[in-house]
Amino acid sequence: MPDVMTPTPGWSASHQGYNVMTESAVESRFALGNGLLGMRASRSINRRPTWVSWLGYIRWASWPRCYVAGLFDIPNTEPPVPALVPVPDWSRLHVIMNGDPLSAYAGEILSGVRSLDMHRGVLLSDWKVRMPSGLIVAGQELRLLSQADRAAGLQVLRLTLDRDDVEVQAEASFALAGLDMDPERMDQDVGAWRTESTGKRLAIAGDITVRLGEEEPLAPMRPFSLCWLWDWRSKAGQTVEFRRLFTVARSDDMALDPAPDAIDALSRVRAIGWRGVLEAHEAAWRDRWAAGDVLVDGDETLQTALRFAAYHLTSAANPEDERVSVGARGLTGDAYFGHVFWDTEIYLLPFYMAAWPQAARAMLMYRFHTLPAARDKAARQGYRGALYAWESASTGEETTPERVVGPNGELIPILTGLMEHHISADVALAVWRYWRATDDDDFFVSAGAEIMLETARFWASRAVLEADGKRHMRHVIGPDEYHEDVDDNAFTNEMARWNIACALDALELLQARWPEQAAALQAKLALGEPELADWRDAVARIVSMFDPDTGLYEQFAGYFGLEPIDLAAYADRTVPMDVVLGRARTSASQVIKQADVVALIALLPEAFPDASALTNFRYYEPRCAHGSSLSAAMHAMVAARLGDADMALRYLAQVAQLDPNPNAAGGVRIAGLGGIWQAVVLGFGGVDMTGDVLALDPRPPTQWRSLSFRVCWRGRTIEISIAGGTVTATLVEGEAVDIRICGTARTLTPVVPIEAKI
Ligand code: BGC
Repeated sequence: MPDVMTPTPGWSASHQGYNVMTESAVESRFALGNGLLGMRASRSINRRPTWVSWLGYIRWASWPRCYVAGLFDIPNTEPPVPALVPVPDWSRLHVIMNGDPLSAYAGEILSGVRSLDMHRGVLLSDWKVRMPSGLIVAGQELRLLSQADRAAGLQVLRLTLDRDDVEVQAEASFALAGLDMDPERMDQDVGAWRTESTGKRLAIAGDITVRLGEEEPLAPMRPFSLCWLWDWRSKAGQTVEFRRLFTVARSDDMALDPAPDAIDALSRVRAIGWRGVLEAHEAAWRDRWAAGDVLVDGDETLQTALRFAAYHLTSAANPEDERVSVGARGLTGDAYFGHVFWDTEIYLLPFYMAAWPQAARAMLMYRFHTLPAARDKAARQGYRGALYAWESASTGEETTPERVVGPNGELIPILTGLMEHHISADVALAVWRYWRATDDDDFFVSAGAEIMLETARFWASRAVLEADGKRHMRHVIGPDEYHEDVDDNAFTNEMARWNIACALDALELLQARWPEQAAALQAKLALGEPELADWRDAVARIVSMFDPDTGLYEQFAGYFGLEPIDLAAYADRTVPMDVVLGRARTSASQVIKQADVVALIALLPEAFPDASALTNFRYYEPRCAHGSSLSAAMHAMVAARLGDADMALRYLAQVAQLDPNPNAAGGVRIAGLGGIWQAVVLGFGGVDMTGDVLALDPRPPTQWRSLSFRVCWRGRTIEISIAGGTVTATLVEGEAVDIRICGTARTLTPVVPIEAKI
């Protein structure tokens, strides 16, 4: 049996050494998470923030941080917005040898490698340090945040010294890194804290044993709560093993003490021991991989990138908690304060729907629970219905900072929280698609339909009838945030039209299938026929930016008249285009930040008659500067669907880069990772989960020998493999189901796979 410290071959990403410029990005990329807990992959020794002076500024080089999903507070930042707060560091260990602290600063690092074993969901480290005294210390560590029992984590750390008789002292404690948290309770094995302004409560319980070789565990001293001290004299070559189990509980209710939950969880994991925790965690990851692994034969880099994407997408989600959703950086870093954006519904949800529908459901329920705040936001802006927050934290109130400090110290207003309204239609689209793909009627009837109706109501009030007989949506921001405060953004208008039309269908369906619930919901929302007539009017009259003569959508009113810029001339730039041109010139130009009309092609292909999808892609793709990490994968997916495999692969190669990019310092850009999965499965794999039947129309690149993956569809699991010009669909679980394969309707039964030529 391989040692628990051995990375699984073919499934591990490794990083050697330490580089101040990229360390923080490595910590993000190799971060652990289970949807409740998150932990950056900081090295086990020197676990404290390290700063680097950079162009006269200070930025962090290493940023050891642990997070708990949903634990938002309003820290001392300007402007004050809720932010995910760092919690006490549950893996800190301080070791002193003959009076010298074990530290890589004072000594010399002889070797150091961290490996993210994606198959087992563990972070492994292996290092050797020569201390100033000449003593050589070797360390090995395994860390995990349990996928089987989200409240729990495990750390196993081994230390080996090359000398006899060194006096060693070790202190394990939950460091005082609860920076913005007030301690509430400090008992021997459990501590509890409270966030300063939101009053959320957190408890951590822990248990650590230390063994010298095969001997009985060493008895610790317990000088104060949550602190363990040991001392011993070393034997050369003897390995000392620390085994730490910790458990965490969050309470959003000020009156509810989370400590009993943390203590219960600790008894649960103590009962099965550290090996039991490891085994249950590995088994849970095996299940996740059985559902979410995508195999590409013929492109090793992409294969690793796909696993890396599925690893982080899986680590970010928690099907058990409807009060949280996935932030723009998951639980891997502080950037964007842990806020939830449209990234979740548009870039991540398709993965969860196909691979983990229960996780998708919990995220949509988060939107249901935040409906009251969305209603308030709409009302404050003078509209009806529900306008979701562009950036959302616990309650769903708008949390977008109102301003930021620009490069020259100037204050720049941030308008997205006021104007980026397409989020409401993005949520509605995800709700509808989730329901279609899962048949989760309970969700639809008790939550989804209400979201559909309230978002439709918002759009009908947002689209105002003007003298030209059209309903306009002025003062908006589309996905392309280089152009703010525009009128009639094509993406927003078409998504809104879809949202209203679909809500009308949803209501009819509800009335037909669940008349009592339909009547109750209409009564609750005071939604009557005159308002529905207004919705139908809005569907017909919202301005269309489509010109049937050219086949082009104009991205927003006046876009075609802006300065054209040849982006190819700037291909060698190292900074984003809006920095090259400056904000003012960028917004007066046709340079686009990210997929906007192109995203519309991906989301609502039916809005592109005849060959106009291609016409629009050819027009907008060269104008896009990809100033957001969301952009490249979306272009890859659309290019793949439109049959331009080479271009799709070029875009995918950009997002599939495995080197630690300093841009990842604040956390992995999880939307881009969701985009990789979409480009491969929905793009090249040709999976369409938006209709009445699952449709498969693969267009794999000729370079690939095979592509295979599974999707969940209406309670079934279907395996799809594409190789040698043939696509095969196999029903792995569930009852017979109708599908469409390469344009032909077929019935997939449990026994006989279906094959079709592509
Ligand atoms: C992008 C948004 C995105 C946000 C969070 C911004 O830079 O323009 O579309 O939602 O980052 O990822």
